[in-house]
Amino acid sequence: MNTQSNWLRSGKMLSNKTIVLGVTGSIAAYKAVEIASQLTQAGAIVSVIMTEAATEFVTPLTFQAITGRRVVTEMFDLTSEFSIEHVRLAEAADIVIIAPITANVIAKLAAGIADDMLCCTVLATKAPVLIAPAMDANMYDNPITQDNLSKLKARNFTIIGPAWGRLASGQAGLGRLADINDIIGAICQTLGKNGDLAGNHIVVTAGGTREPVDPVRYISNRSSGKMGYALAEAARDRGAKVSLITTLASLIEPIGVDIVNVNTAQEMYEAVRNVVPQADALVMAAAVADYRPASTAKDKIKKTDAGLTLKLELTPDILGSIKGDFIKVGFAAESNSLIENAKQKLQQKELDLIVANDITATDSGFGADNDRVAIIDPEGNIESLPLLPKREVADKVLDKVAELLSGR
Ligand code: C5P
Repeated sequence: MNTQSNWLRSGKMLSNKTIVLGVTGSIAAYKAVEIASQLTQAGAIVSVIMTEAATEFVTPLTFQAITGRRVVTEMFDLTSEFSIEHVRLAEAADIVIIAPITANVIAKLAAGIADDMLCCTVLATKAPVLIAPAMDANMYDNPITQDNLSKLKARNFTIIGPAWGRLASGQAGLGRLADINDIIGAICQTLGKNGDLAGNHIVVTAGGTREPVDPVRYISNRSSGKMGYALAEAARDRGAKVSLITTLASLIEPIGVDIVNVNTAQEMYEAVRNVVPQADALVMAAAVADYRPASTAKDKIKKTDAGLTLKLELTPDILGSIKGDFIKVGFAAESNSLIENAKQKLQQKELDLIVANDITATDSGFGADNDRVAIIDPEGNIESLPLLPKREVADKVLDKVAELLSGR
């Protein structure tokens, strides 16, 4: 499981962003505390506005303690100076997110009714508005709610979820608040939609390929996939359309990214070949097996005293063999002669960039949350970076990709 927290996964994306978090009277209101906490940890300035009903579920004090900021509630005198503040908030907001939003507040917004602080703020803001509905499945399914949601969608509201699962009624259905990772991912994606990669399609590969020996065994490597996922999220947060071709099903799937699941090097080769004709850049962070068993046994291989010799054959070199009008970026994970080996791969595979990763460095490389890398271009320029979280490495690599794309 990808244990990286959202503040690490979002890099500097949320830092100093003014986020208005609206909370309405749903049983899922307690989850908004975690959203407020994660956004605050990621460096955002979070101003919470609670409807009166929301304060029945969670106290304003909780949000105040978590965000370190005053919470707007209906309890404030509408004629006070503080009531002006919420209009200022609407203007200052980089983004407004209402999570959870009830059917009632959805209906009010769809009708343009502004009889509380939250709806006033939404009507007064020019910032993008995201809403994450949470309610009983039948209420969500009701054509009135669906009509109201369609109206809001037509007005450029972004709707996240709801998710399917157990509801407060004890029944299972579609109505649970979307996963917090998805809500924070959608916030990052929305904030970055006009970023420097907007209009570009970036293909990223991730994870170690699995080459089957028999129906139960495979040959693989220690790649965690975290670098590829960080690249996919970073590219999404800079406005790119992203295809992530991955061998891993256990990491948190980034919202807003097209995911293609593969197992073997051959499958990855085919998936990459299918998408690159429309792509502007291919970033191969996957640790593709260089060899695979020459044949896969149909039945489980039995243990014998004689031991076992496996015959291996080469896999297709994806980066080396796929050519086209797109920027090609490779990774070189090396335990010795890092720069020399990386430069060789850059030439052999005709790359625009290679990211050399010293896997012997402490707390860097496979499975770690950080990497110490050098980015090398065909002219021999080397940018050596300090030990950085993978998301920051991803952004440094994408800085170069954006530069190359803008020069095309
Ligand atoms: O395995 P190696 O260190 O040579 O990988 C260098 C780069 O080539 C990586 O970006 C990797 O994803 C890519 N590669 C590939 N196809 C292979 C082996 C590696 O595309 N069969």
